[in-house]
Amino acid sequence: MKDIHIGIIGGGLMGREMASAFARWCALTDVAVRPVLTAVADLNPATLEWFDCIPSCTLKTTDYQALLGSPDVDVVYVAVPHHLHEKLYCDVLAAGKDLFAEKPFGIDLGSARRILDACKQSGRFVRCSSEMPFFPGAQRAFEIARNGGIGRVLQVVSGFHHSSDLDPKKPAHWKRFSAVCGEGGVLNDLGMHACHVPLRLGWAPERLFAQLQKGYPQRPDGKGGVAQCDTWDNAMVHAWTTVGGEQVPLRLEMKRLAPGATNTWFIEVLGTEGGVRFSTAEPKSLWTFERGAEQSWKRTDLGFGMPFKTVTGGIFEPGFPDVIQQMWAAYLMEREGLLNGRFGCATPEEAVQTHEIFAAALESHRAGAVVAL
Ligand SMILES: NC(=O)c1ccc[n+]([C@@H]2O[C@H](COP(=O)([O-])OP(=O)(O)OC[C@H]3O[C@@H](n4cnc5c(N)ncnc54)[C@H](O)[C@@H]3O)[C@@H](O)[C@H]2O)c1
Repeated sequence: MKDIHIGIIGGGLMGREMASAFARWCALTDVAVRPVLTAVADLNPATLEWFDCIPSCTLKTTDYQALLGSPDVDVVYVAVPHHLHEKLYCDVLAAGKDLFAEKPFGIDLGSARRILDACKQSGRFVRCSSEMPFFPGAQRAFEIARNGGIGRVLQVVSGFHHSSDLDPKKPAHWKRFSAVCGEGGVLNDLGMHACHVPLRLGWAPERLFAQLQKGYPQRPDGKGGVAQCDTWDNAMVHAWTTVGGEQVPLRLEMKRLAPGATNTWFIEVLGTEGGVRFSTAEPKSLWTFERGAEQSWKRTDLGFGMPFKTVTGGIFEPGFPDVIQQMWAAYLMEREGLLNGRFGCATPEEAVQTHEIFAAALESHRAGAVVAL
């Protein structure tokens, strides 16, 4: 095992999720690298205190430049609000560190392109977080779609649904303000999740029509007052892509107001010979269809068939913390040149492609028209 020293900037929801994935690294049995959290930076001293539970994390600072100056940090994971992505990602690269970025990789298309330029100039290893394709069911759906066994592709649907913002009494989070989340709103928030697998399959939208919806214009601000909220909360993107030389409808769904869904990622690919469907609402079930005399879908109980092997028994159920850990295994193994054909994390180029889709979706909604990419 080779130790890779990690620094985290932003110790909020995702910073702590990543730190806990490192803490149970012993679950993985076929990796040659081990992340060791050595440093964390967050503006909030109370947030830093949580990291006291990780003995290797000896540098806890409110100044992220102190973390970037530490020789004891090889890779920096940054999980901060979107308006800070460009500045912090570029500072990480300028400090000569490798970067594991969070989506959406900049607040808008211009920002994403400037980050990509900085990545190229620095020559550092950079990937962007997108963990849902590491579910065993998502991996199988990807392989089935890629291998072409389902005949001529008729339709692709990929999406991510949340219901947490259905409650009008929920205090406004920074993702409810365009100035911090970005004009794309839910596109910025959930778009990478919906786009990652279609883009990896080479199924990029060529022209699209988007329908965007806002949520509640006002919410409690969490301090006894009222906050004005202005972000798009639901987005439906109806696109055309090309698969095997044929034009195919591709629908991308990103919703923060999806009744009944807590954190549901899904993909469906239908073809003339077969089809495949996976949703994290049923984390070990893979649904497949084969054309035959009768119409029927088959459910396969996949269990814990992760890309990177673990001590967890094959019959058990995968969950969010598991795919976060698998994603990190993919990042660190690819960095070492040891991915060996396994599914890699989202690339900076793919992240820029997602922003091209978001920009086209915003333009389409504004104009009420189809937009070519
Ligand atoms: N991959 C996923 O599934 C997933 C899920 C949620 C959020 N995210 C992404 O992760 C990122 C962070 O989201 P979150 O939900 O963890 O946010 P959060 O609000 O929970 O945490 C952000 C943290 O950043 C800190 N921070 C802000 N400015 C800072 C600065 N200048 N220096 C150091 N720390 C600073 C804040 O104090 C806070 O603790 C966003 O890009 C978001 O889109 C990804």
